[in-house]
Amino acid sequence: MVARTRDQLADALAAADTVSSVVMTMGALHDGHRALIRAARDLVGGDGSVIVTIFVNPLQFGPGEDLERYPRTFESDLAACADEGVDLVFAPDDAELYPGGQPVVTVEPGTLGRELEGAVRPGHFAGVLTVVAKLLNLTVPTYAVFGEKDYQQLTLIRRMVADLELPYQIVGVPTVREADGLALSSRNRYLSDEEHTAALALSRALRAGADAAGSGPDAVVAAAAAELKPDAVAVDYLELRGPRLEPAPEHGPARLLVAARVGRGTRLIDNAAIELP
Ligand code: PAJ
Repeated sequence: MVARTRDQLADALAAADTVSSVVMTMGALHDGHRALIRAARDLVGGDGSVIVTIFVNPLQFGPGEDLERYPRTFESDLAACADEGVDLVFAPDDAELYPGGQPVVTVEPGTLGRELEGAVRPGHFAGVLTVVAKLLNLTVPTYAVFGEKDYQQLTLIRRMVADLELPYQIVGVPTVREADGLALSSRNRYLSDEEHTAALALSRALRAGADAAGSGPDAVVAAAAAELKPDAVAVDYLELRGPRLEPAPEHGPARLLVAARVGRGTRLIDNAAIELP
């Protein structure tokens, strides 16, 4: 079932009246999104409802970013949702979700919102957190499932839910990759074959970093950097941080994050868990 308006959504939610989980997406669904949908189903069981939202959120795109050319594949997205047994798809248009146009009050992500992705994409995380808060409050799920692929996004959503006392449980799902290591992304379809090959440097760098963990945090970053050849990719950042994106610890769990532009400017991000002995 597809709800296009908030009234249709409210009616569908009232009729279902069960435990539910939501998977928020911008469409162009791939196997990474499908892994989230399956995790959402596992959380609520066969009697619960799985809700998928499909909305390309203009608020999180900066000037000069790919809002207009972002892939829109609504019919095949609906087929994928049907295939995965999704109970309800909420796919509003801009005017439905932002009836007053640009919202006046938005969620301010704090300092972490200006670091890493936020340093390259000013305002991006305010746009993300604002739409996530709205979609949480419209779908009122028990669980909301997000991918570790967008690790800073997941971290900031957890932070928002904690800091603003939002009554939803946030669940993270590990990154789904191609057999060659490339993290699945709706933006991968922009890549030519050569660019795809160049993009493999990101996942290779993360693996090299993880393999160097025994030699300490500096060695992790150095080993990863050695895989990111400037003729193949233009690196925006490569950073080792703590699991909540605080400064990197000397020992214990950490996260290595990378962002780079490939070919004609397709921006890719990836990250991996690192265990520092
Ligand atoms: P989108 O890029 O469509 O991603 C939707 C969800 O799928 C996010 O939680 C993202 O982390 C997850 N995802 C994407 N690729 C993945 C992969 N390879 N493995 C596992 N999970 C993956 O992220 C957004 O949309 C938007 O910012 C949104 C949260 C919907 C707000 O507009």
